[in-house]
Amino acid sequence: MPSPASPSPLHADAGSPPVSAWPTILETRGWSDYALLDFGHGRKLERYGGIVVDRPEPQAMGRPRLSEGRWREADAVFTGNDEDDGPGRWRLNRDLPETWKMAFHDVRFLGRFMSFRHVGVFPEQAAHWQWMAERVARDAARPGAEPPRILNLFGYTGLASLVPAAAGAHVTHIDASKKAIGWARENQELSGLEHLPVRWICEDATKFVAREIKRGNTYDGILLDPPKYGRGPKGEVWDLYQSLPELLPMVEKLLSPNAGFLILTAYAIRSSFVALHELMAETLEIRGGRLESGELVLTTEDGARALSTSLFSRWSSK
Ligand SMILES: C[S@@+](CC[C@H](N)C(=O)[O-])C[C@H]1O[C@@H](n2cnc3c(N)ncnc32)[C@H](O)[C@@H]1O
Repeated sequence: MPSPASPSPLHADAGSPPVSAWPTILETRGWSDYALLDFGHGRKLERYGGIVVDRPEPQAMGRPRLSEGRWREADAVFTGNDEDDGPGRWRLNRDLPETWKMAFHDVRFLGRFMSFRHVGVFPEQAAHWQWMAERVARDAARPGAEPPRILNLFGYTGLASLVPAAAGAHVTHIDASKKAIGWARENQELSGLEHLPVRWICEDATKFVAREIKRGNTYDGILLDPPKYGRGPKGEVWDLYQSLPELLPMVEKLLSPNAGFLILTAYAIRSSFVALHELMAETLEIRGGRLESGELVLTTEDGARALSTSLFSRWSSK
């Protein structure tokens, strides 16, 4: 433990483990451009902007509540492999554009029908976007404060980078896919936020973190949303079970003395939030603060039912 004469670079209760706060359910009720309309029989019915989408959802084990007619009216249906993230194809039931515009507060973004049943946004992540934006705005508004530096690993189409950037952060966004980086930049342009300081970097997440440690760079907030399996730009293998326990302690080294948060989410792995929580607790064992873990859920627009989508563990300094 640091003595009072040599104040720790970490915050007030550094030296102790974070206080555990679990289970925590972070619920997203939707917003003007997103609604969970119904789910059941292994599928979910959602509205993205003006487009209603019917796609596989293994967690939707009960029965749907809307009529078959409402489901048949979906504009786009993903058919084929019912396995999580399995390949398949979109059937479009009317003339639809290749891309369409949506927004989350100041951030506008494009929807696009992708293989593997995605449309370029994970709406339940809105719970984290909102939470980060509030913290960043609060920290950025402190008199004399430097803009918080945020690192977004496995950043995909950039929403979790653009939301904190719009709130006043300097953001570094890492993704292995040139296509995803291109889409994220399109979203920045569409939002009219080109002037904001976002570094878009196409690199393997682990390699980038290792380099940043060597360079001595640090961040005030870090977010990582790794897939189960992935590849870096040079074919580097990402396998969550093996790679995450190696990456997380490296990520901890990048947290600045005054870092405010570290957010980890994991989709579709055979695990539990307790396993994520324990790994985070081990990694952050002398940082004090608070560690909350649980699930991200989407709630139907009438608020009557909740659909589980992801596990998460989120550390905050206070
Ligand atoms: C969208 S995130 C995954 C989160 C999402 N919720 C899921 O499970 O599919 C996946 C992103 O990680 C990127 N990615 C995969 N392997 C990577 C690696 N080794 N380094 C950096 N990014 C990687 C992919 O290009 C993709 O944009």
